[in-house]
Amino acid sequence: MSEPTTHTLGSWFAYARKHLDDADAQTLCETAFEVNFSELVAGAKLPAPASQIDVLRDFIGRRRNGEPVAYIVGSRGFWRHEFIVSTKTLIPRPESETLIETVLPFLTGSARVLDLGTGSGAIGLSIAAETGAYVMMTDVSNDALQVAANNATNLKLEVQLRRSNWYDAIHESFDCIVSNPPYVASNDKHLQNGDLISEPLIALDGGLDGLDALRVVIGDAPAYLHHGGRLAVEHGFDQEEAVYAIFESTGFQSIELMRDLSDHPRVTHGVMP
Ligand SMILES: C[S@@+](CC[C@H](N)C(=O)[O-])C[C@H]1O[C@@H](n2cnc3c(N)ncnc32)[C@H](O)[C@@H]1O
Repeated sequence: MSEPTTHTLGSWFAYARKHLDDADAQTLCETAFEVNFSELVAGAKLPAPASQIDVLRDFIGRRRNGEPVAYIVGSRGFWRHEFIVSTKTLIPRPESETLIETVLPFLTGSARVLDLGTGSGAIGLSIAAETGAYVMMTDVSNDALQVAANNATNLKLEVQLRRSNWYDAIHESFDCIVSNPPYVASNDKHLQNGDLISEPLIALDGGLDGLDALRVVIGDAPAYLHHGGRLAVEHGFDQEEAVYAIFESTGFQSIELMRDLSDHPRVTHGVMP
């Protein structure tokens, strides 16, 4: 389809919507034209500056080539905040908000929380913002930790950041451990499709059955939890039985499954006696 002949915000928004799905077109137009949705609609007849049209043209091409919108615009909304993302971090998913909903009722400002595999920091920073708790956020990826540090600075939140291969560099104990570890099976065809193909494999690949990281995160947790401390992990919609069994064999009690907004099994949590 040929480009618009009149260069207004509205004509370019319509053009973007012809090429992309509505949500993607909206986000890319808002970013390119530096407006929010109301301004985009109310300003439909305003002239679109040539430099911003160039930006939008580039965005549309990249999206049509499969690049995720969050990587194109450099951020993604999660819980109550906008988080910087890079190609070195997973794009935070709405279903991971289930982890926050799960642990918030058990946390006070004096809690000590560990977020393992923090990526952009979306989970740990959301918990810090909601509770004022002491939050340590770890990742094996220095690039991810740098993004998490930038997000902490932007949100003016004081948190601890540490490079660690799961618990290897952890010598403290906590009231709560949260983790959204890689849990996709290595041969899962979804790794070759959609946004996942652009995201770091280290953030997704959970080994042959997808449970490699979950076995470590759950199995080694008791040494890092206070008595009565809670572990909450995100997992695949079809992994709840396997994850429940790991919680049980590790000695957790009050084990409970939480479902995400699509009603899929998504988070399991339990208490260390
Ligand atoms: C599924 S992503 C979750 C990122 C973020 N917590 C979120 O929910 O958006 C998993 C994260 O675990 C990290 N990771 C992978 N292997 C790790 C390891 N051995 N030790 C610590 N973190 C690891 C990855 O770098 C990635 O940031």
